[in-house]
Amino acid sequence: MTAGDDALLAAALEARKHARAPYSEFPVGAAVLGKSGRIYTGSNVESSSYGLTLCAERLALCFALHQGETEITHIAVVADTEGAPGPCGACRQIMFDYAPDSVVLMANLRGDQRVATTRELMPWGFGPGDLAAYNTRRQKGPK
Ligand code: THU
Repeated sequence: MTAGDDALLAAALEARKHARAPYSEFPVGAAVLGKSGRIYTGSNVESSSYGLTLCAERLALCFALHQGETEITHIAVVADTEGAPGPCGACRQIMFDYAPDSVVLMANLRGDQRVATTRELMPWGFGPGDLAAYNTRRQKGPK
């Protein structure tokens, strides 16, 4: 971990304080670093209709994209898990869609840390390239 990594994890830890998790009581914090150098944070926001719950990572990522970041270089996630927290499958998919070359920093509250790339977290992932290849084939090739 570099000093920059530690700063991003600290931002995720701070963001965790803003989680709205009345149902699970399991707050999660995330922070995203864009190529611009800006950091964007997010926390989980739960719904009384449980399935509508937003995860911390996806909120932070969408915030960064909405603010105009074109390239995400690092994503940090912090939760009170036994070991370093692995992002859920839905978050991994959005990471693969919008931050395929990102480094993902994962940490719990007791000092366990893990680092992986988005591609390591999403082997054989389905992504924009698959649709692009399909559409190219469909437009140019025989049916
Ligand atoms: N959660 C996240 O925010 N990120 C993850 O990667 C895993 C799960 C949230 C969703 C829900 O509010 C709570 O943690 C318990 O699942």
